[in-house]
Amino acid sequence: MAEAHLGAAPHPGATVPRVEALLARMTLAEKAGQMSQLPLFQPEAPTEIVEAVRQGRIGSFLNAHSLAQRNGLQRIAVEESRLGIPLLFGRDVIHGYKTIFPIPLGQSATFDPDLVERAATAAAAEASEAGIDWVFAPMVDIARDARWGRIAESCGEDPYLAAEMGAAMVRGFQGEDAGAPGRVAACAKHFAGYGAAEAGREYSTTSIPEQLLREVYLAPFKACVEAGALTLMSGFNDLNGVPASGNEFLLRRILKEEWGFSGFVVSDWASIVEMAKHGLVEDDGHAALEAARAGVDMEMGSSAYITALPDLVAQGCLPVGVLDDAVRRILVVKHRLGLFDRPYREAPPEKRGDAYRVVAHEIARESIVLLKNEGRVLPIAKGAKSIAVVGPQADDRVDQLGCWSFDGDASASVTVLAALRARCKDAEIHVAKGVDDCRSNDRSGFAAAIDAARRSEIVLAFVGEPANLSGECRSRAFLDLPGVQLELLEALAQTGRPLVVTFLAGRPLVIGRACALASAALYAWHPGTMAGPALVDVLLGDVSPSGKLPVTFPRAVGQIPLYYNAKNTGRPATSRLRGVPTGTPLDPEGFESAYLDVDVTPEFPFGFGLSYATFEYSNLRVTPSRAAAAESLAVVVRLKNTGQVAGDEVVQLYVRDRVGSITRPVRELKKIRRVSLKPGQEVDVDLRLASRDLAFWGRDMRLGVEPGVFDVFAGGDSCATLSATFEIV
Ligand code: NOJ
Repeated sequence: MAEAHLGAAPHPGATVPRVEALLARMTLAEKAGQMSQLPLFQPEAPTEIVEAVRQGRIGSFLNAHSLAQRNGLQRIAVEESRLGIPLLFGRDVIHGYKTIFPIPLGQSATFDPDLVERAATAAAAEASEAGIDWVFAPMVDIARDARWGRIAESCGEDPYLAAEMGAAMVRGFQGEDAGAPGRVAACAKHFAGYGAAEAGREYSTTSIPEQLLREVYLAPFKACVEAGALTLMSGFNDLNGVPASGNEFLLRRILKEEWGFSGFVVSDWASIVEMAKHGLVEDDGHAALEAARAGVDMEMGSSAYITALPDLVAQGCLPVGVLDDAVRRILVVKHRLGLFDRPYREAPPEKRGDAYRVVAHEIARESIVLLKNEGRVLPIAKGAKSIAVVGPQADDRVDQLGCWSFDGDASASVTVLAALRARCKDAEIHVAKGVDDCRSNDRSGFAAAIDAARRSEIVLAFVGEPANLSGECRSRAFLDLPGVQLELLEALAQTGRPLVVTFLAGRPLVIGRACALASAALYAWHPGTMAGPALVDVLLGDVSPSGKLPVTFPRAVGQIPLYYNAKNTGRPATSRLRGVPTGTPLDPEGFESAYLDVDVTPEFPFGFGLSYATFEYSNLRVTPSRAAAAESLAVVVRLKNTGQVAGDEVVQLYVRDRVGSITRPVRELKKIRRVSLKPGQEVDVDLRLASRDLAFWGRDMRLGVEPGVFDVFAGGDSCATLSATFEIV
């Protein structure tokens, strides 16, 4: 890398006189201190940490234990350090603080950016009441592999949806002014490509060609930057041979120069020093050098910067401009958060948990996806006299919160059993867990569950994955229901009672058999604090389910990676190879891109989700049908509620660019619109396409729209068949 390049990144609007005055006075050690973030492991910070704050050798902490600890350390920084620069306190507020919203994958299933923004606003308010200035969210890693445990924290497999959701979360956390009361700084993570870990194995290598990187993996980050995200976090992963936290191409060239990002980059926990284990550098000092040169402004969780950076500059190995650039970015963020003027935080006079729970209820309700509803067994008949409630997830206050909810207040959780009891006062509720927890192999509870089922008109089974099987370092090679839960469902199905299965899980599980046993099936992800009321609203039909799958559900692990916006092959599967029974190899025949022992299609496609209403799409038209590349196009489709009840439908618009200088995916989601319709009501839904919606990175690595014919598909999922065409000339 040319030295002239270093430290020369643009700072749009970043000249803050107070920051410049401080920079001019700072020693190298103080600069390295601002670039260092350490965790707080104990409620009382150890003396050496307190002393380091006093000396200006720490700029930020994560995981303060209390408001008192935060304000205490802040007082030392502001009143006792030489320059009085305030500390910045960060925390993993991933899908709520005390009040927990659905896991991000569940939030994404709402396909409702406005609601997701409101949830992030509530999370920010609750977190800032506790003295948190900065949250390590949103996570916008594209996840096409359900084996990867962090798919739970992601917004799913699609770059457009993840961009919409990520930007909504940034707006929700930061508002117009991240320094206003109740707002926090956001951190889009993990830049970049982390979700492409080989075989879904945590922390594993990622190999992503630049065209795919830009088009799929970087797109949601760009949206977050455009939404004003003040910080980004660099990933743990080795990206094309250079770990993300030492990747100058990613951090300096693309993020800071091309995109003009004016905030700062924090490393993921110890990901700088881990570059030695990756084999990029030999020791922590070289790791610090590579990371700083690459553009990581703050080190999280390890101390290579504070130890090595001053000497590296003094020895002439690193221009001081690199430190100045990083420190300026960090101080500008502190300034924008108002920390120089209001360094301390106060607990609010009253807790506002009730208000946050209202949002948690609403978003949990919208995140639930109806997968099957044979014979309209749902909603449960109003006059039902007896209901069996079975399964390990019916009454588990902790598991319903999902991964990354360690601050979550489980005592505030309302389980589905509690909510059912409160709502169905006239029905007998027969409760039997069947199995003690999701992973148990003990069948001794089956008999009681079968008995409860036999005594009831309808059986509600709540099964899935415990919270601690998804999230960081929770990769799985098998995606079946853990333990003997499937056997429990088999036994319940044999009673002949209508069986409604609700899955609570942090990832798409392989659920073909379980769904076949069920009359109706709901996928609720981990819905958070208000899981119970949200599920009961749906089960009883107070609202019609409206969630849509943000990720493709495979029939078998062997199909992974399986995602809707794939490329075609020269020999695509024909319908001749559809309907292959799972697990039983056919005799080999023909030469098509398919499997001998599983249908090539998914169990449930991306975007799928049923409703108690039914919707009919018609009259899809594009005007003009021939347009110049820079023109925008009106795409309008007629949507009618042909059912008996009101419902929301998420209208989805997919595009296929038939021929490109780089082959294009078979479909790409370009627009979503949530529409509420009463029975019989119909509307024209306008899904305007702008030229940037059709652009892609061509063979010459330029972003542009290529002339040719495009197909558009409108409907309720990624298999929509209603289509029209237009031409770009
Ligand atoms: C590691 C995780 O990868 C990251 O997402 C998180 O924000 C940090 N640890 C801090 O806890």
